[in-house]
Amino acid sequence: MASNEGSFWLPPQSSTVASEVDELFDFIMDLNYIFFFIILAMTVYFVVKYKRTNDEQLATSDLDHSTLWEGAWAFIPLGLCFVMFVWGFKLFVNLQVAPPGAMEVYVSAQKWSWNFAYENGGNSNDLYVPAGKPVKLIMKSKDVLHSFYVPDFRVKADVIPNRYTTVWFEAPEAGEHRIYCTEYCGKEHSGMYRTVHVLPPAEFEKKLEDLSGPSKLPEGMTMAQWGEQLYVDYTCATCHSKDGSRLVGPSFKAIYGREGKLADGSTYKADEEYINESIMEPKAKVVEGYPPVMPSFKGQLDDNQINAIIAFMKTLK
Ligand code: CUA
Repeated sequence: MASNEGSFWLPPQSSTVASEVDELFDFIMDLNYIFFFIILAMTVYFVVKYKRTNDEQLATSDLDHSTLWEGAWAFIPLGLCFVMFVWGFKLFVNLQVAPPGAMEVYVSAQKWSWNFAYENGGNSNDLYVPAGKPVKLIMKSKDVLHSFYVPDFRVKADVIPNRYTTVWFEAPEAGEHRIYCTEYCGKEHSGMYRTVHVLPPAEFEKKLEDLSGPSKLPEGMTMAQWGEQLYVDYTCATCHSKDGSRLVGPSFKAIYGREGKLADGSTYKADEEYINESIMEPKAKVVEGYPPVMPSFKGQLDDNQINAIIAFMKTLK
């Protein structure tokens, strides 16, 4: 059964495979401790026993070797390595192959955000999954190498451009767990942390419906407040400051109505049309002095959300 506190060394075990991974990890660590002390103790013993006490002293042993000892220190560690290999390989295969009937989620990584697309066409930046059901992630990168990592699940896999990789897990209980990108992918690599929300199955079905179809202004929020939330959720904040400081991309401070030069020498004015285009086709008009690195948010943000983001920009005077 999964423990939810974790140990001194390891985070909580929040997936069905976590305890198996930890058992192997603990086995290898325990062997390390044992051999560390054996080797240390023998080193000290031999240093004391065979210390040279005067300058004329010569080697006196007439033993050339001991088959018993040499066999022991070759074959015992070899046997232990085989145990580690076979145990690890079985676990590796188990971690690679999703059980039949797993729910599939398509994952797309880009500098510097995650997108999770569900079977009903919905998509999100945090991952939503039902409790007690295996989930298979089918992952691809839009640009460079990223790596999907949920420590609480003991699950990690590279996300690679032009190739699909998969990973699966089953979280038995509802809860929230951290997703990290664990492959250095550029300046805002550390900003690629999101949450996986494990929901009770009925709640998950409801969430899934919300995620598909056109987005709606969340209750109790103004358009500008919603825009600010999207600015955080879609990780715009990693490249675009709102206080005027220079990050990877131009700051959002006073962006609405801003005029300036583009990389190709022409000029731009940041109106609705320009901002919409810059979110959908970021490379169409690149502001002078900035690298053309922004990914497209086509299929991730709809018109309502873009309007909200523009409303938010208008408040940043
Ligand atoms: Cu993506 Cu590090």
